[in-house]
Amino acid sequence: MSFMDLRQWIGLLEKEGELRRIGALVDWDRELGAITRRVLEKKGPALLFENIKGYRTGRCTKLLASGLGSLPRLALALGFPKDVPNRDLVQHVTTKNRETIPPRIVATGPVKDVVVPRDAVDQTELPVPKWHFREGGRYIHTFSGIVTRDPDTRVMNVGIYRGMIGRKDTTPFLLIKGGQHWGQHFLKYAARGEPMPVACVIGWDPIMPFLAGSPIPAGVCEWDVMGAYRGEPVELVRCETVDLDVPAGAEIVVEGVISDDPATYETEGPFGEFTGYVSDIPTPRPTMRITCLTHRRDPIFRGCLEGTLPGSYSENSVMSSVQRAAIAWNILTAAGIPGIRDVFVPPITNGVNIVVQIKKAYQGQPKQIAAALWGNSAAQFRYKHVTVVEEDIDPSSYEQVDWAFAHRVNAGEGGLIVFPGIFGSPIDPSTPLADRDVAQLGTGLWNRVLIDATRSWKFERRPEWGGERFPPTVRPAPEDEARVRERWTELGLGDL
Ligand SMILES: Cc1cc2nc3c(=O)[nH]c(=O)nc-3n(C[C@H](O)[C@H](O)[C@H](O)COP(=O)(O)O)c2cc1C
Repeated sequence: MSFMDLRQWIGLLEKEGELRRIGALVDWDRELGAITRRVLEKKGPALLFENIKGYRTGRCTKLLASGLGSLPRLALALGFPKDVPNRDLVQHVTTKNRETIPPRIVATGPVKDVVVPRDAVDQTELPVPKWHFREGGRYIHTFSGIVTRDPDTRVMNVGIYRGMIGRKDTTPFLLIKGGQHWGQHFLKYAARGEPMPVACVIGWDPIMPFLAGSPIPAGVCEWDVMGAYRGEPVELVRCETVDLDVPAGAEIVVEGVISDDPATYETEGPFGEFTGYVSDIPTPRPTMRITCLTHRRDPIFRGCLEGTLPGSYSENSVMSSVQRAAIAWNILTAAGIPGIRDVFVPPITNGVNIVVQIKKAYQGQPKQIAAALWGNSAAQFRYKHVTVVEEDIDPSSYEQVDWAFAHRVNAGEGGLIVFPGIFGSPIDPSTPLADRDVAQLGTGLWNRVLIDATRSWKFERRPEWGGERFPPTVRPAPEDEARVRERWTELGLGDL
C-alpha cells in the first residue's frame, strides 16, 4: 500500500490518466457541481478546478472532486491495478478493516504551515461550492474526516458527516445523536454539560474518506485502521485549540466545538443526498463554533458531489459498493453464520440494498442474516432491503437475482419479511417526515425488508425431482449439451 497525501494522490491520478485539470473560470455557485455531475454521467475523470470565480487568489484557490468517483480509481487508492474485480476489493477490505496499526504523534507538519486564529476565521475564504441549486447553502464538509474523541475511553473517531457554512465561523451539521459514532460521543459530552471538541480534516490520503465514510466498529479508531491499510503508522499532529489529533500532511483542518444547547443551533439543509434526492427540509441543528483553522501553503480544497442518480454514481456509491459489502460480510462472520459465499452491494443503492449469497445450511438462515445485519449499528442508513440468494445465483447479476426473486420467493410463506419501525435513515424520501424527525426520535425509523430468494426447505424432497425439494431447471442434460457443442460447426452455427 502506497503512502499518500492529497498531492501525491493527485499526482498518481494524473499519471494514470484519471485526472483533468480545469483551467477555465468556473463559478463555485452551482456551476462547479453541475460540471461534476456531467462528468460523472460520462464516467469521466477526477477534476481539479484551478480557476474558481472569486478564488483566483487568496487563501485557497483549488478544489479536487470525484477522486474516488470510479471503481478503477478506488482500486488505485487501495494499491490495486485499475481493472481489479469488485469482489477482490471486497475481500481485501473485509480483511483490512479488521487490522490496526496505531498512529505516531509528530511535533509538526505541513498542515501547520498557516495557523488562522479564531477571530480571523472566515470559511468563505475557501472555495466551498454550492453544489446544487436546491441546497440550503454552501456545503463545506462533504468529504472531510470529522474527528471526535470518546470522553470516557479517549479513543478517537473519524467519520464523514455533512456540514454547511452558517456564519463565517459556524457550521451546522446533520448530527444524529446516538446514531453514528460522533453522535454517541456528543451524548456523552452533553451528559457532562460540555461542548464536544471537533476537528474537520479536509483533503489527505483517499483512504481517509474511504474509512471515515464507513461504519468501522465503535471503539476502533479509524486512524489505526488507516495505518493498517497504509502499512505504517499514520503521522498525526495535535490540534491547536482542541484535544484531538489530525494528519500532519492534511491540506486544511478546521477546529471547533459543538454544544447541545439548542440556543446555539443554526439552520441546516436541505442537501443533495446520496439517495439522489434533496434530503429534507431546513432544520435547526447542532452547530460547530470554529476556534481555529490551519492549512498547508496553497491548500487544495476537497469536496464531493453527493447524490447518485441512475447513470451518475457519486464517490459515496463507489466506496459503498465495496465497503458496505465488506462490513456486512464481517458482521455475518462475527455472528457465526455459516456458508456466506459472497456479498454484493449494487452501487446505485449505496448499500440501502444488499444481496448475500449463501450455501444454505438451514431454513431459518436468511432470517438470521437479516437479523444480524439489522441488529448492527452499521445498518444506520443502510441494509434496508436484504436479499439472500443461493450459490447458483451470482449476487452481482441483476438478471440472476431477479430470476430467483420471481421463482423462489413466496411472500405469504415467509419469503418476504417486513421488520417495521426499526432504526433507519432520516434522509430516506420514502419515509414520512414524522418518522425522520431526528430531534424527536434520535434517528429515522425504517420498515426493513428481507427477500428470502433461497429455495424453501419446507418442501418435501421428491424422487421425480432427483431427490431435490425444487423442480429441476430446463437446462439440457450435460450429455445433450456436450453433443451439441461437438456438432456446433457442422450445424453451421460456428460463428455464434
Ligand atoms: C461522501 C459521504 C457523505 C456522507 N454524509 C453523511 C452525512 O451527511 N451525515 C451522516 O450522518 N452520515 C454521512 N455519511 C455516512 C457516514 O460517514 C457513515 O455512516 C460513517 O459510518 C460514519 O462514521 P462512524 O461510523 O464512525 O460514525 C456520509 C458518507 C460518505 C461516504
